[in-house]
Amino acid sequence: MEKHLRDFYVFLGPPGAGKGTQAKVVAYHLGIPQISSGDLFRENLKNQTELGLLANEYIKVGDLVPDDITVALVRERISRTDCANGAILDGFPRTPAQAEAFDEMLLETGCKIHKVPYIKVPEEALIKRLSGRLTCRDQGHVFHKQYNPPKKPGVCDFDGSELYQREDDKPETVANRIRVYEELTRPLVEYYLDRGVLVEVDGDRSIDAITADLVKLLEVDESDV
Ligand code: AP5
Repeated sequence: MEKHLRDFYVFLGPPGAGKGTQAKVVAYHLGIPQISSGDLFRENLKNQTELGLLANEYIKVGDLVPDDITVALVRERISRTDCANGAILDGFPRTPAQAEAFDEMLLETGCKIHKVPYIKVPEEALIKRLSGRLTCRDQGHVFHKQYNPPKKPGVCDFDGSELYQREDDKPETVANRIRVYEELTRPLVEYYLDRGVLVEVDGDRSIDAITADLVKLLEVDESDV
C-alpha cells in the first residue's frame, strides 16, 4: 500500500459522534496527524492566549468561533511540516464558508480531500455520550465514565494527566451545540456529497467496530490515484 502525498480527511458528525475518539486512533494507524480545531482552541485557552480567551467566549455557550479566526488557526496548523503527508481534520470545517476556505487552502498547495467520513449517531446517544465524557488535560484524550472508562479513575491511560469534564458538556450548552450543528454544519453533508467524497459511517456501534471500518475505508492504495 502506498499513500498519496498530502491527502486530507475530514471527520464530520454532530457533537459527541465520536470524531475525536476515532480520529486519534485512525490517524495513528495512517501515520498522519489528527488536527482538532476544538483541541487547538482549548490548548490556547490553557495557555491563556488572547485567541484562546476570545474563543472561549463562544465555546462556553456552545456557539461557533467566528470563521475568520478559525480558518487562520487551521491554515497555520496545516502548514507545519508534520502535515507533509496529509492529516485528519476533526471538527473543521464546520460551516460552508470554512469548507470553501479549506478548499482554497488545499488548491493553493496542490492537496485534496480524499474522503469525508460522516459519523451518524442518534441524538439521544449524543447526549448520553457528552454527559459522561472525560477529557485529559494534557493532550485531549477522550474517555467515558460508562462506555470507555479509564483504567484508573480520573487519570488518562495514555499520558497520566488529570481527566476533567468539559465546561461545554453541561446539558444546556450541549442542547445549543446540537442546534448550532443542525443549522450551520449539517449543510456540509450535502456539500461533500456533491463533491463525491462523503462516506456515511454508522457511529452507533462499539468504538472498535467503527475504528476497524474507518481504517479500512481510509487506507489508500495506488488504484485510488
Ligand atoms: P469540539 O471540541 O470540536 O467539539 P464537538 O464537535 O462538539 O465534538 P466533540 O468533541 O464534543 O465530540 P466528538 O465527536 O469528538 O466525540 P468524542 O470522540 O469526544 O468543539 C468545541 C467547541 O469549539 C465548539 O462548540 C465551538 O465553539 C468551537 N469550535 C471547534 N471547532 C470549530 C470550528 N471549526 N468553527 C467554529 N468553532 C469551532 O466522543 C464523545 C463521548 O462519547 C466520549 O466520552 C467517548 O468516550 C464516547 N464515545 C465515542 N464513541 C463511542 C461509541 N462508539 N460508543 C459509546 N461511546 C462512545
